[in-house]
Amino acid sequence: MKVFITREISEKAIDLLKKEKFKVGIYKKDKPIPRKELIKKVKDADGIISLLTENFDKELINQISNCKIIANVAVGYDNIDTIYAKEKNIIVTNTPDVLTDSTADLTVALILACARRIPEGERMVRKRKFKGWKPKLLLGIELKDKTVGILGAGRIGTETAIRIKTFKTKIIYFDRERSDKLEKETDAEKVSLEDLLSKADIISVHLPLTKDTLHFLNKERLKLLKKSAILVNTSRGEIIDEQELIKILKKKKIFSAGFDVYENEPKINPALLKLNNVVLLPHIGSATEEARTGMALLAAKNVIEVLNGRKALTSVN
Ligand code: DGY
Repeated sequence: MKVFITREISEKAIDLLKKEKFKVGIYKKDKPIPRKELIKKVKDADGIISLLTENFDKELINQISNCKIIANVAVGYDNIDTIYAKEKNIIVTNTPDVLTDSTADLTVALILACARRIPEGERMVRKRKFKGWKPKLLLGIELKDKTVGILGAGRIGTETAIRIKTFKTKIIYFDRERSDKLEKETDAEKVSLEDLLSKADIISVHLPLTKDTLHFLNKERLKLLKKSAILVNTSRGEIIDEQELIKILKKKKIFSAGFDVYENEPKINPALLKLNNVVLLPHIGSATEEARTGMALLAAKNVIEVLNGRKALTSVN
C-alpha cells in the first residue's frame, strides 16, 4: 500500500507507517507542495497524510482513484471537501485532543501579550527606545475581575477558559449547545452572541470554519465590542472580517487584537503590520513538540487503521 505525506512530519509517525510495510512517499521541501506535483503524487496513493496548506477540493479528489483515507494533520479540516470525499468513499480524519493544551496555552499567551502590550515593550527595548521607568509607560489591562467571552465552547475554548479563569476572571460563552464541562469547571454562563460581544472585556474565538462561520464576526457584530475590548483569534482567520477589524483597530475602537491566524494566510494584510495595537503570530497554536508529535502520530494511526480495513479513530465524515 502506498501512503503519501505532503510534508515532513514527526519521524515517529513515519516509522509507524514503515513498520506496517507501507510504501511511504514524502514531499521533502519545507514549503507547501505545488498543486501540479501534489496531483501527480497522490494519484495512486492508498492513503494520504495532508496538512491544512493543501486544498483537497473536488478537482483534486477526482484525481485520487485508489485513496481510502485523507488524514489531515490538524483539528480543522476546512481545507478538505469532506462531503465530496464521502461520496467518493474516502474517509477524512483530523487530529483532535492532542493539540488542545498547546493551543489553549498559546491563546492565553496571546491574551496576556495584548493586555500587557508585551510585543510593543519588546520592540521598544530592541530599538533602544527604553529610557527608564515611567509612570505611564505602556499601561495595559489587568485580567482580575474582567469578563472573558469564549466564542465556541469546544475543547480548545474550554481549556482556554479553564486557564484564564485562574486569573480571577468571569467566564461567559456563546455556543449553539450548552457546555456542561465549561460551566462546571469555570462557573461560565451561557449568553447570547450580542451579550457576549458587548459585555466581554476579552473575547477569544474558537469556532471551526464552515460556510456558516465565514465572517461570523462581521461589521455589525464587531461594532458591538467595548472600546476597552481585546479580541484574540487562534482558530481560523476567515471567521473574522479582517478588513472591518482593521478599520476598528485603526480608529482605536477596541483596545487591541491578537492574531494567530489570518484571512488570506500566509499573506498578511499590510495594514496590520503598521498597527501597534495588534499582536501578530504565525499560526503557531499547536506548535509544540508534544502537540505536533501527537498530531502526526494520530494521523498515521488513522491511516493504519483504515488501510487495514478497520474503523478510523477520528473520522470527520
Ligand atoms: C489546526 O489543527 O486546525 C491548527 O490550525 C493547526 O494546528
